This record gives sequence, structure tokens and C-alpha cells, in this order.
Amino acid sequence: MRQFQADIVVVGSGLAGLSAALALAPKRVVVVTKTDGIEGGSSLWAQGGIAAAIAQGDRAADHAADTMAAGDGLCDAIAVTNLTAAGPQAIASLREFGVPFDRDPATGDLSLGREGAHSRARVAHADGDRTGRAVVTTLAARLRATPSVTVMANAFATEILVSEGVVAGLLVHSATDGWVTIRTPKILLATGGLGALWARTTNPPEATGDGLALAARAGAALVDLEFMQFHPTALLVEGTEPLPLLTEALRGAGARLMKADGEPLLAGKHPQGDLAPRDVVARAIQGEIGAGCQVFLDLRPAIAAKGAEHFPQAIEICRAAGFDPFAQPVPVTPAAHYHMGGVLVDGYGRTRLPGLYACGEVAGTGVHGANRLASNSLLEAFVAGRRTALIMAQDRRVLPQALPNAALLKGSAVDAVAPLRQALRAIMMTDVGLVRAEAGLRRALEKFDGIAAAAAAAEARLDEAPTDHASIRAAGEMRNLLTIGRLVALAALSRTESRGAHARSDCPTTQDAWLRRQIVALDAAGAR
Ligand code: SIN
Repeated sequence: MRQFQADIVVVGSGLAGLSAALALAPKRVVVVTKTDGIEGGSSLWAQGGIAAAIAQGDRAADHAADTMAAGDGLCDAIAVTNLTAAGPQAIASLREFGVPFDRDPATGDLSLGREGAHSRARVAHADGDRTGRAVVTTLAARLRATPSVTVMANAFATEILVSEGVVAGLLVHSATDGWVTIRTPKILLATGGLGALWARTTNPPEATGDGLALAARAGAALVDLEFMQFHPTALLVEGTEPLPLLTEALRGAGARLMKADGEPLLAGKHPQGDLAPRDVVARAIQGEIGAGCQVFLDLRPAIAAKGAEHFPQAIEICRAAGFDPFAQPVPVTPAAHYHMGGVLVDGYGRTRLPGLYACGEVAGTGVHGANRLASNSLLEAFVAGRRTALIMAQDRRVLPQALPNAALLKGSAVDAVAPLRQALRAIMMTDVGLVRAEAGLRRALEKFDGIAAAAAAAEARLDEAPTDHASIRAAGEMRNLLTIGRLVALAALSRTESRGAHARSDCPTTQDAWLRRQIVALDAAGAR
């Protein structure tokens, strides 16, 4: 097996990983990413933009207050203060990197959009609603020109190696080199989210919770797992995976949600109407869909107010699905979008396992509480990526002497795993979805056992486990999805209240006794 040594390994190449790797230069960094190249992950798909208090009269304190209100009592106030205070400088730094933020043609100032639960317009965007692409491609170009960074693409991390209680390396299966051991004392997880666990998601298929599973197996703690944000307005196109997102910036510019008979959906339901927090809007839509009715988004007021050039991606998405957004409202549905929980970290990205760090969506900082405020995610990815990089650069730890034996993951036939993965995603959608209840959560946990048994039986039927990269990745992702799916369901089961994105139909009220975060860890047997 190939083995080499690295000062620091970054796993994941979304905005958090790219920001960290750039900030670490000239320290030597290896970026391990399972996608084809460095431009992967959910960041690339982000539409709305980056929230920051840069408008005249806006204040970081107001941005913080909106973030705390959306978070429904569970935000870490210090994390929120630090993030929102860093917003204006983050926008300035991204501009220095060359991100082409859109400008208001009348004033020449940055054009700012408004999104749900923000008390004013404060979302900077680039290339209309293609902000994620603009930011990621700009930083990826910088990264390619940074000689201290080595990128291992098509490389799937299967295990964090731990020796003497600290990080000792990372076991990776690479499409080109097979099994590789990277000996390193410092690993940064920037692997993004886990939306692929649900049948309806806006996330790319690679969002399989790998970082959470790697960290949990290595002994780090996880937190807030029950809080999965469903974006209210994915375009409903049956048979399409993942579902295309229709940015909330559309509603910020005047797009309206309506029932099939044209009646406004949110009228009288929340003082902020169509711009209520995401959990409120998503549940209102789900309520209609559950009653057998469709919900529509009328993009025309937004296009009329801001111009079609403001929403090129939304218009393209609708047309590709056969809808003309200039002529008709389009059907929408909530879809799994962003995980507020993650690997438990302190304010500097440090996990409870010495040498292991996490930033971006995979990290549980407490900044988003029970429900993330729109467009705080790209901000967090950039700010936390850079802050964690500084702390890692100062961390003087050295490699432990011993390297533990690593168990090589057996591959699974991709064809055998695919239906099991789909079954798991369907269970998550039905029983661990936008609204949960004890009976469904218990049913889901039982069904997960059945899926795990079916996966083991499929493996046992093979004379020899396949050793190609696709089969190893399929087995690894399935293992991660099952591990994290179980942990999410268990966390949802034990939180016997409704708060933010976690809604229990059998425990519909918010309880002061639950004004706390749930921290979980795997025991040696892989159970909680
Ligand atoms: C959106 O544009 O609506 C998504 C942005 C976000 O999730 O913050």
C-alpha cells in the first residue's frame, strides 16, 4: 500500500475546504476530495448569496439578532457574534480574491438581496443567483495556482487513524492509486452535509455525511443531529434527483407562494409572510402537500422587480423542467437542504479528538441553532475555514510514533447497494423528515436494521469483494449513510419537543427543558 506523510490534510473541497487550504499556504497541505476535481460539493450549487451587514445603516448586531431569532433559542451567542462581526471583512476578502459580486447599477454599491427571516436586505450575490459557482470557481482557480497545495481527487477517505489518543493519519482509497495511508498529525474535515440521506434533497449526491461518520468512528463527539433544514422551495420535478433549488432570494424580491386556487399560502400564518423563517414556510408547504394539494411559486413579481438577469439559474432550471416561469407559477416542495448539526467543535474548529478539526457544514459550532438563517452558510464556510486554518497552522503537534493497523473497507457491488441506498432515503423522507413522531422514528430504526442486514447478505453472496474504486466508495457511503441516519433518528427520538427545524407532531410545543444541545458519541461497538 502506498504511504506518504503530510503536515495537514483537508478532507473536502467545498468553500470551507478551499478557504482553509488557501489560508494555510505556504504550509504544505494535501486536499483529499472524493469528487472529480476541486470544484465539488454543495457550495458550488448555492444560489442566494452571502449574508453580511454591509449596507448603510445595517449592523452586525442586527444580523446577529436575526440569526439568533431564526435559531429558535439554540444558537451559541458567542459564535453568532463572531460570525456576524466577521461578515463585512469576509466580503472584502472575497472581493480581493476576485469574486465578481453584483453591483447596483444606480449607485455602484454591491447589490444586496433579501431572504427569509432577515430584517433587511443584506445578501451579497454574484452572477445573479449563481453565487456559489462564482465564489467556488474563483477560489479554486487560486488554489490551483498555490504550489503548497496538493489535490488528491477521486479519493474517498474511509478511516481517521488514531494512535495514543490523537490523530495519526488518514486511510484513503484513490481511483488511481488504490489504498493510500497518509500519515499526518492534523486533519481538517470540510466534507459538507448529508442531504443525500433524504429522498428529496437539494444537495449533490456526494453529500453523504462522510465527515460525521469518520469523526464518530474515530471517537469525536457529534451534536445537534436532529436539526436538518428543509428548503421550502425546491422545484417539484418527479423523477429528478437531486431537486433543483429555487432560491429564497426570489421571494425576497417579490415571488409569491400560492395554493392551487391562487390563494396566498402564508397569508395570516406568520408576520413575515413569504419571508418567514425556513422551517415555518417549509412546514406550511408540506401541510398542503400532505393534504394532497400542490403549492406553487410565482416568480413573475420577482423577475418584474429585479429583471430576468438577476435570476438566470432559476429561469434556466424552470425551463429545463418544462415550465415557463414568465407564463405560469411553478410547483414547489420542501427538500432536505442544510444540516445545522455536525462534529462538535469549539470556536476554533477543534473537535474532542486532538489533531482533528472541522469547519463548514460538517462542523457543529452552534452558530445556526435549530434553524439556519438564509445565506449564513457560505459566510460560515469562508470565515470558519480561514479561522480554523490559522489555529491549525499554530498547532505544533507532531506525528505519534505508532500507526495503528487499518482495516481496509470491502467493496460492495454498486448495483446491489443502489436499491438499499434508495430504500434508506425513502425511509428518512417518510419517517425522519420535516415532521416526525415517535412511532415513525422507531419504525425507521427497525427498518435501518433490515437494510444493514440486506447489505451484509449481499456482501456475503459474493465470492470475492470487488476492489475497484466505485465499489469501495459505494460501500463506504452506504456505511456512512446508515451510521448517520441512525444517529439522526435517535437524536430526533430523544428530543421530545418541537423547535426550529425539528418538528414532532406528537410533541408540538417548544419546551424550556430542551433549551440545550444533544451531544452524542459512538461506543466501541458503533452504537450510541
Ligand atoms: C437559497 O438561495 O435560497 C439558499 C441559500 C441558503 O441556503 O442559504
